[in-house]
Amino acid sequence: MNNIVNDIISTYIDAFYQEQTEDLKELRAFAEERYVPIILKDTEELLRIILALQKPARILEIGTAIGYSACFFAETCGAHITTIERDPDYFRTAVSNVRQLGHDGQVDVLFGEASEVLQKLALSTDTAAEGFDFIFIDASKSHYREFWDLCAPLCADDGLIICDNVLMRGLTATRPEEAAHKHRTSIRNMRDFLQFLKELPYADTCILTVGDGISISRIDRTAYQEETGKDRNQDEEC
Ligand SMILES: C[S@@+](CC[C@H](N)C(=O)[O-])C[C@H]1O[C@@H](n2cnc3c(N)ncnc32)[C@H](O)[C@@H]1O
Repeated sequence: MNNIVNDIISTYIDAFYQEQTEDLKELRAFAEERYVPIILKDTEELLRIILALQKPARILEIGTAIGYSACFFAETCGAHITTIERDPDYFRTAVSNVRQLGHDGQVDVLFGEASEVLQKLALSTDTAAEGFDFIFIDASKSHYREFWDLCAPLCADDGLIICDNVLMRGLTATRPEEAAHKHRTSIRNMRDFLQFLKELPYADTCILTVGDGISISRIDRTAYQEETGKDRNQDEEC
């Protein structure tokens, strides 16, 4: 995989990386041996600091893979974690890893297409009452705008929505007309998505060259309700 900052700097920074626990060290090694894409080391370090400062009570993740980041969240903070995965093999492995690391009471792994699962979650009483403080979008990049539209109503006031891989190994920063044909649509989609985030009146967003590029958006619920006319329970106009 290409690093979005130069390899010398990435290697230098990664040398400081320290796995939080032996379990996570083994799980990262397991993922790397099987080429399962999981959060990069510097992304994990940034998330660890954010979680320590924000102390979320409820985390939502789109894209579980084998459960590495979900277990990392569980080992880093006391939040309840809901994570969604559509690949049946990854889903089974994630359930087993979560159990093996002793987090099955804290992490719910939900199987299915995120857009469908998110619509069901929106109807659940817990979600309507409390919302999620920390939402991590780390799934199919072509659906980020759709995931955002389904996640934003589920976000608590002052909650964070973090999207991973938004710089797509640097491709996002390439002008679409100068990129290979096969990348043009995904570049345009991601650029449109980031432009959309930066212009949202209810979110304050920064884009960082950490990992494969990460966007961090802080949600102002009052501004969200004013903008959309919707409360967390989408059926209820405020
Ligand atoms: C980058 S991996 C997630 C890695 C994980 N967050 C971690 O760091 O350990 C992306 C995962 O999202 C899943 N995924 C992609 N699109 C999805 C969708 N529409 N609904 C549910 N899962 C999806 C893929 O099957 C894949 O396992």
